[in-house]
Amino acid sequence: METRSGYHGLEALWHDLFWEAEEAPSEVLLIDDFLQDKDAGDGESLYIGSGSGRLLAPLVEAGHLLAGLEISEEMASLSLKNHPYAKVITSSWQDYQPEKKYASILIPAFTFQLFPDPQKQLERLRSATDHLYLTLFFPWAELSGDLPQNQWYFDRSIQLPTGEIGELETRHKIKEQTGSLTRQHRYTLKDKTGRILRQETTRQSLRFFPDATLKKLLKKTDWQIRKEIHNLDPESDHDDLIYTATLHLSAQ
Ligand SMILES: C[S@@+](CC[C@H](N)C(=O)[O-])C[C@H]1O[C@@H](n2cnc3c(N)ncnc32)[C@H](O)[C@@H]1O
Repeated sequence: METRSGYHGLEALWHDLFWEAEEAPSEVLLIDDFLQDKDAGDGESLYIGSGSGRLLAPLVEAGHLLAGLEISEEMASLSLKNHPYAKVITSSWQDYQPEKKYASILIPAFTFQLFPDPQKQLERLRSATDHLYLTLFFPWAELSGDLPQNQWYFDRSIQLPTGEIGELETRHKIKEQTGSLTRQHRYTLKDKTGRILRQETTRQSLRFFPDATLKKLLKKTDWQIRKEIHNLDPESDHDDLIYTATLHLSAQ
């Protein structure tokens, strides 16, 4: 079973199809707004966890000076194959030693929560840039018990371009005290009759941050919140439960 934070196998191959099936709003416009803001600095920006290039490619096409950084060779190859004009560095953020200061760094789509040592990485990010774009999710469904703990449940399925079916089941365990969520994903490839052709299980450890914990962490690491967008919607209602927070951070 995989325990690395990088995406591999069916998880890498089907990544974009499952995002599409979720019908969540795209972050492209939010990132585009952030990069257009003159306060976000000039010069090249770095996108950590750029994956298949799903968001990186349209941003590069829009004229932003942006390089991707991706730990998984499979994801990086998909990106370079489908969007060869978008530069990708294959490395983990933890091993990457930037040779210059970036105009800004982007970490959308919850990749930051895969880092086991958030304070250390926020400090490293602070040395690498003065402007950070970060999207975090809060696992309300898991915490409230809406999703059952310690048992497999059906997550969603997709129809593949070949007519075959890709199925995703999930099992999770949550530790409220330490703010950690362990999630296993079971990907199953089935033919048109429902016969199982391939099955793979992956495992991720995610950190999550209650509001006060996050504010304390940002203060300790010298980051100041310039803007906060909830649920990927700049017009979101103040009374809504906050599932995702997108933060524009600047050096204090
Ligand atoms: C949730 S996916 C998001 C991919 C992409 N940002 C998107 O929205 O389509 C997380 C991505 O981060 C990559 N990743 C995970 N840990 C990483 C690390 N430590 N350094 C660089 N990339 C990492 C994974 O391989 C995966 O491609």
